Amino acid sequence: MCGIIGLVAKEEFGVRDELLKGLKRLEYRGYDSSGFATSNGDFVKTVGEINNLLDNVDKTLKARTAIAHTRWATHGGVTEINSHPHFNKEKTLFVVHNGIIENFQKLKEDLELEGYEFISQTDTEVIVHFLDSKIKQGKSVKEALLEFEKTVKGTYAILAINKDEEKIYALKKDSPLALGITKTGFVLGSDIYAFSDKTKKAIFFDDNELAEITAEKYAFFDKEGNEIVKAPKTFEWEEAKEQELDFAHYMIKEIKEQPKTSKRLIESLHTLQKDKLKEFAKLIKDCKKLFFIAAGTSYHASLIGAYLFNNQGIDARTMIASEFENFSLVDKDTLIIPISQSGETMDVVSVLKEIKKAGAKVASIINVPYSTIQRHSDLSIETLAGQEVCVASTKTFTNQLIVLFALAKELGYEMDIEGIPDKIQKTIDENEEKTKEIAKELSQKRDIFILGKGATYPIAREIALKLKEIDYIHASGMMAGELKHGTIALIEDGTPVISLIPKSDLSMDSSTKEVEARGAKTIIISNNGGDFIVPDSDDAEFAVYSTMIGHLLSYYIGVELNLPIDKPRNLAKSVTVK
Ligand code: F6R
Repeated sequence: MCGIIGLVAKEEFGVRDELLKGLKRLEYRGYDSSGFATSNGDFVKTVGEINNLLDNVDKTLKARTAIAHTRWATHGGVTEINSHPHFNKEKTLFVVHNGIIENFQKLKEDLELEGYEFISQTDTEVIVHFLDSKIKQGKSVKEALLEFEKTVKGTYAILAINKDEEKIYALKKDSPLALGITKTGFVLGSDIYAFSDKTKKAIFFDDNELAEITAEKYAFFDKEGNEIVKAPKTFEWEEAKEQELDFAHYMIKEIKEQPKTSKRLIESLHTLQKDKLKEFAKLIKDCKKLFFIAAGTSYHASLIGAYLFNNQGIDARTMIASEFENFSLVDKDTLIIPISQSGETMDVVSVLKEIKKAGAKVASIINVPYSTIQRHSDLSIETLAGQEVCVASTKTFTNQLIVLFALAKELGYEMDIEGIPDKIQKTIDENEEKTKEIAKELSQKRDIFILGKGATYPIAREIALKLKEIDYIHASGMMAGELKHGTIALIEDGTPVISLIPKSDLSMDSSTKEVEARGAKTIIISNNGGDFIVPDSDDAEFAVYSTMIGHLLSYYIGVELNLPIDKPRNLAKSVTVK
């Protein structure tokens, strides 16, 4: 959450066209407000999407060094004052920050005793005044940052610049930060999206590392201030190019890309990632305890993973990452499988740091290469869905399922994975018009229930999540068998209930009849007749095709309601705070 970017170049660059275009690539990390500052002392901050900032920046403004920020508010409301960069009284020192300063209240009180006045309600403002205070005591920016690191509690990726100095100072703990190496200088960013259009060569900050970057060189230091050597890494990444957006929204583009993205993954699981897949399956077979950890949509994928592995005789459980410590025990014979699109979800990262102490092994399923979760893993399979711009996950979810299918296949589960891309295409082709029609009706509803069982229970939850986050409709994805134990009291005449009925499951038929008998308006997704008919398959594969229908429905409801589909309110794609 929150995206930060910094540019330092040999020649002057256009702030609007270079820096802010880079910032826009990070907008999925938060879009409450944004701002930038240059080493010439120019700065602008605005509330709302980055386009508001673009409208307020002189097209001719140039600089050689600049930093920028897009905010997902944590401490302090969505106001211009609370936007980053924060600065000292003289407006000569500027700071952007992603993370949370937990002891900011104490730091603030100490700084107020020194005479510092705070103008924002943010935790970040303490950083700039703390540094300013140390610099005024005669310390260098580097020394001030090292002292800050010793004093502060919390998580941070920080970029700081001084007026009239062509240098960026960077410090990182827990929040992600990477340094891209370009032809004209360097780009710092919260993740590779910030610069993957310019370079595929980067250095990834580890915790407690500080760096000083000029247009000519960079230097990294440990927390004692000793210089350390870090080697650049080269990464593979498929860009989502804005100019290629021939769809109204990224969400629909990403739904429709899936025949291609799933095919790419399947091919790689047969070639480049084949050995990793086998090694991963061996870890699964050899462990004594297996836990998936994930959040949101990735958690739904993990539920399918648990279903498949249990089916193959492996005792596998899954846990929402933020609750892991309350409900699970880990030892050295435990295998942890984190599933994450971004690879940065703080709830997952925090668990990994703890379980590593117990000696557990980590094998992850990740979309973004060199992300924090991948770098904390003993082994990692990449989902290769490419960049996903819409805040809500669609194509990455499908590819997470495909990796799980491939692992289950290694464990003995029989399945035709190769046929999936074509069947995804068929599902979209044969059902899209109908989803538009039914979306019109559903857009007028306040509550929607979705029923599933076994492999489709996670899909019921996934569809409900999308209806909530994209369409702001209250939706509940339930185990069909549990409905009659209470929730059925909510079913009235006309209540919409989406039923996921793979042909093998007769009990789903009965649950559907039970709600129909109480007046529910059922919408049936099945591979055996119904409102939406998807290709013939087993239950696990059915999960993929029924998800397509659910995602299309939530997309077209969002279109009906004219909602900001790609950037729903209050959300951010990469949830890097707890
Ligand atoms: C919903 C959605 C979120 C993410 C969740 C985990 O559409 O995208 O629920 O799935 O925040 O994110 P990752 O997969 O990046 O760990």
